[in-house]
Amino acid sequence: MTQRRPIIAGNWKMHQNVAATSDLVENFLAQNYSEEVDVVICPPFTSLPNAAMLVTGSSIGLGAQNCHWEEKGAFTGEVAPSMLLEIGASWVIIGHSERRTLFGETNDTAARRAQAAQKAGLKVIYCVGETLDQRESGETFEVLRAQTGVMADLDPNHLVVAYEPVWAIGTGLTATPDQAQEAHLYLRSRLEIFFGPEAAAGLRILYGGSMKPANAVDLISLPDVDGGLIGGASLDVDSFSAIIRAAANCAAGE
Ligand code: 13P
Repeated sequence: MTQRRPIIAGNWKMHQNVAATSDLVENFLAQNYSEEVDVVICPPFTSLPNAAMLVTGSSIGLGAQNCHWEEKGAFTGEVAPSMLLEIGASWVIIGHSERRTLFGETNDTAARRAQAAQKAGLKVIYCVGETLDQRESGETFEVLRAQTGVMADLDPNHLVVAYEPVWAIGTGLTATPDQAQEAHLYLRSRLEIFFGPEAAAGLRILYGGSMKPANAVDLISLPDVDGGLIGGASLDVDSFSAIIRAAANCAAGE
């Protein structure tokens, strides 16, 4: 079986001003995280330059939470991929459910953003996931199928997929290991169609939705779960560090 290197990514959402970012990043840097895990933090746009200065030379990667598909132009409130690269980001989250439900992101616009980001040289964390209504009416796979259908033109070498059931985000509800594994396996089968078995077997699929130290091992040790996209728990040094340790232990087969 392909050994996939785990990723633990923190999506800070609209939290942490510049001063709070410095504090948190300095605390993370003092933890000496395992070399066996890719650690990425995604602060708000305004905190990125400061975070970039702090993490440069460390093993912590830096990502943004969105980008536009054009390089420049009359797109008020948007940020181009090259602007993110310029200030030191190398990752970007695309298609998060909060962008989809609150800001009108569609499968089409998410795919355009992801393509442009990769073309510019950013690595993409592409988010998918069903709502509670969709799960309860048995539409989970149909939704995941539509959300992944637009991914065929992406570059699998610069792609990480995040399965984030919307009903588990910020709610304290977590997918059961069976639910998570089933969805991840389905997503991998979709990736196989687009990118072939070898690339799909190497692609990392993260779970997101109330991942905490208490449930991290159960989720990350699943065969098709390769880490986590963490919201609330990524803003707390102890919680985020415990999840990274859990991923390192899973990678070591403990
Ligand atoms: P929580 O971990 O706060 O549920 O958020 C998950 C998420 O949305 C990460 O992108």
